[in-house]
Amino acid sequence: MNYHVLTLFPEMIEQGLHTSILGRAMEKGIISLKAVDIRDYTEDKHRKADDYPYGGGAGMVMQAEPVFRACQAVQGSIKGKKARVIYTTPQGRVFDQMLAEELSREEDLIFLCGHYEGIDERVLEEVVTDYVSIGDYVLTGGELPAMVMIDAISRLVPKVLSNEASAEFETFHDNLLEYPQYSRPEVWNGKPVPKVLLSGNHDRIEDWRREQSILRTKLHRPDLYEEYQKNQEIAKKIKKPAKNRLKTIIIDKALAPEGDFQSPWWNEFQEFIQERGLPLIFAAETGIERYRRIIQEEKLKRQEVLVFTGTVEGALAAREDKLRTIYLPIDEEEQEPKGLIYYRKISDLLEGISVLRSLT
Ligand code: ADE
Repeated sequence: MNYHVLTLFPEMIEQGLHTSILGRAMEKGIISLKAVDIRDYTEDKHRKADDYPYGGGAGMVMQAEPVFRACQAVQGSIKGKKARVIYTTPQGRVFDQMLAEELSREEDLIFLCGHYEGIDERVLEEVVTDYVSIGDYVLTGGELPAMVMIDAISRLVPKVLSNEASAEFETFHDNLLEYPQYSRPEVWNGKPVPKVLLSGNHDRIEDWRREQSILRTKLHRPDLYEEYQKNQEIAKKIKKPAKNRLKTIIIDKALAPEGDFQSPWWNEFQEFIQERGLPLIFAAETGIERYRRIIQEEKLKRQEVLVFTGTVEGALAAREDKLRTIYLPIDEEEQEPKGLIYYRKISDLLEGISVLRSLT
């Protein structure tokens, strides 16, 4: 993973991220970090990169040209496809573990840190691919948010943590908070360590930890608990007896991204399918018989099929044939047809895929 941070304060990034686990990962060449000084790309002899806002108002605005040139220079230095450009702004999508996981699969990431009253809108329109916030509060600049994100993303990059399992079974995995941890002494301040942890029985310990995770999540994060329950319900619905195990996936052609468009859910989806050796059949036709025809031609049993559809008609066609279905409305305004396994947003499918992984 190569990070490129466009900033007016490169020393802040360099000092903040070269220590501890990330410092070690950089020394080992697992990740690299370049702070790019936007002022190096201004033509002003005083290295000025900001100016007054048109229309008046407090503060200064970062000018378009230096930001554009800095970004072009970085994109030009990257081999392969263009990197995603993340603008850190309180107006963006709120960063979470799912986005961290998605971004950790990129080869290069460019962070654009704003300052003062922001950046000239025109260059944002030209270069930014993702607007991301780290929470509903306003900071003085985008450097700390970029550092927060880099830290969260890096620990998900393979080999950054010495024990990879530790990134896998922790807080937010499965939408659950982490279970409580204890270390020596066995009794501290009159409080003993829970007995089960001293039992040496790994199955019981695992069960206890899972239970603690669930209880904690229910108590402290009812929002996450609700998601967890939803996913459990979905898993129950699709994890049918062995004879109904998933053998083939049919997907509406319209749902597959075209050309070299990079879609995180699509990449994840393909990875899932390859891992399981599942055939993927594209449904290009329309009409109520579209899936029925494929099932007949391929001599499949309808219980072994899972359909991904992007339209109401597709969802209705799947329901007509009682097929297990995930409906991803291409048009987000669409209403949910009843009786389907259903995700409203394409981004939710990333979580759905972790449910799907337990299918085969
Ligand atoms: N810049 C200023 N405040 C921010 C926030 N909350 N998230 C991301 N970037 C920011």
